Amino acid sequence: MCGIVGYIGHREAYPLIIKGLKRLEYRGYDSAGVVLYDGTDLKLSKTKGKVSDLEERAVKEISLNGSIGIGHTRWATHGVPNDVNSHPHLSNSGNLVIVHNGIIENYEPLKKELIKRGYVFKSDTDTEVLINLIEDVQKKDNLKLGKAVQVALNQVVGAYAICVFDKQKPDEIVVARLGSPLAIGLGKDEFFIASDASPFIEYTSNAIYLEDEEMAIVRLNKPMKVRKIKDDSLVDPYVQELQMNLEQIEKGGYDHFMMKEIYEQPNVIRDTYRGRLHANEGIVRMAGVEDNIEKFTNAQRILIIACGTSWHAGLVAEYIFEEFARIPVEVEYASEFRYRNPIISDKDVVIAISQSGETADTLAAIKLAKEKGAFVFGVCNVVGSSISRESHAGAYTHAGPEIGVASTKAFTTQITVLTMIALRLAKIKGTLSNSEYHRYLLELETIPEKVKEALETNEISKQIASVYKDAPNCLYLGRGYNFPVALEGALKLKEISYIHAEGYPAAEMKHGPIALIDEQMPVVVIAPKQGHYDKVVSNIQEIKSRSGKIIAVVTKGDEQVRALADHVIEIPETSDALSPLLTTIPLQLLSYHIAVMRGCNVDQPRNLAKSVTVE
Ligand code: M6R
Repeated sequence: MCGIVGYIGHREAYPLIIKGLKRLEYRGYDSAGVVLYDGTDLKLSKTKGKVSDLEERAVKEISLNGSIGIGHTRWATHGVPNDVNSHPHLSNSGNLVIVHNGIIENYEPLKKELIKRGYVFKSDTDTEVLINLIEDVQKKDNLKLGKAVQVALNQVVGAYAICVFDKQKPDEIVVARLGSPLAIGLGKDEFFIASDASPFIEYTSNAIYLEDEEMAIVRLNKPMKVRKIKDDSLVDPYVQELQMNLEQIEKGGYDHFMMKEIYEQPNVIRDTYRGRLHANEGIVRMAGVEDNIEKFTNAQRILIIACGTSWHAGLVAEYIFEEFARIPVEVEYASEFRYRNPIISDKDVVIAISQSGETADTLAAIKLAKEKGAFVFGVCNVVGSSISRESHAGAYTHAGPEIGVASTKAFTTQITVLTMIALRLAKIKGTLSNSEYHRYLLELETIPEKVKEALETNEISKQIASVYKDAPNCLYLGRGYNFPVALEGALKLKEISYIHAEGYPAAEMKHGPIALIDEQMPVVVIAPKQGHYDKVVSNIQEIKSRSGKIIAVVTKGDEQVRALADHVIEIPETSDALSPLLTTIPLQLLSYHIAVMRGCNVDQPRNLAKSVTVE
């Protein structure tokens, strides 16, 4: 969590840093700050609140000149979000300044030691400890900044992406990474530093992504050097050509990124299968799968690890893999997996799913699975992300940047990738008949058009939202492939509208949740025609006889449920296995409209951040 931006070059740093921080606000937005060197001194402004609050404050508080500067947008870990705990942090001498994304786990003993040595601390943050540690190291041995950063980082336990500079040497910025992402954009006589490339894509298309335990000193008019923090060895960094463009990271006429991303789904699902799925020829292939095909076909088990929405996509995949490829699947929260002693062997394939590719628990779970000998396959959206690099192989979802904190297009594109893998394995293993296999390929190809049709439920979803926007609770029920969709629908509602919502397998309702049902309780039931339709209809009747308010997501033309439900949302027909790609659409729209009507910040819900890079 937290977004960092740095600049050194010939432009005014301030507008560039502010614009960059706004693009990184998805990473955290409880406080923000910036520091510039204006040729005479450091100019620091920071505040609780969003980057727009910082802008208001900075213009009154500091001169905004300078062509070197660093900025930060925070998601608090150590210390409440307030002005003092906001980054950047200065060292005691006032010479060094830092922005930091991550956690210094051993900050307390380090702080005690520094206090003994006369240092004083203004904030409750681990970051202020780090900058003073760097200063202490620098002073003790009269070291250059880069060396002092390196020595200090070797004493630190935890995770970090940092930018540090010294006002006495304002022609260089020292950056380093362990566990939190850091990209360096390479311009002509200028460098851009950021948590991802979005802050600088209009300036350069060449970037280096630091690997874990690497640091770099970016200096004006000097070639950049990347080193290993541990042993000081020089690294030859890979310069990546960026594929992102400006349009992708702007709202494109929508009020919110979430809505834009919901509406992008027909196109991005197509992008996900483009070049991989050739339905008419009966082919589905992905390089990462083909190169490791025996690992998959010999797998005694597939273990899926993920968090949040990605975990829900994993649950859908469990049904799909077991049905199509007849391989046993277990799906685990990465955060639980990493802290038990899981039984894993080299016969297991671990699939790690992550939109950001930076989720700390998922990353740690991958490392554990690798240590235990498993083959790890990453399904990530962000190209070059930590999880994609840490995995043995993988497949990108190609959904484009997802900026709204609530995950939408990541979910449907993850399911698309996982479905393609399952179909490929089914073909090789002969676990689906030829006709079934071809039917699914053809059906998958029609999904983007059907998602487009499902998006036409926007108006009805909005009307339903206006009826239930003040409900304190909401239940979501689904069965089979649509049980994970119920979980996902509930997660979407609670995270952006702050309405308490729970998802259940519809049949579980009578084992407890049914006690909650009365005339006040909205119950969203996912009831497409295929699958366990009759059973779900019985569940709807059970809700109706207890006066619950029924909002049913049904297949077009379903009159039976229409006669029972208070509201129906019709989606196009598809096979049971592919139905989550459609049933999830109205649930995204419903949550979106409820959140907007409640005046919530849809793209930046309270307490959340887009990538959870702390455990
Ligand atoms: O980037 P990841 O897919 O690893 O993120 C996992 C979760 O943090 C994420 O899905 C989160 O639950 C979203 N806010 C859900 O909308």
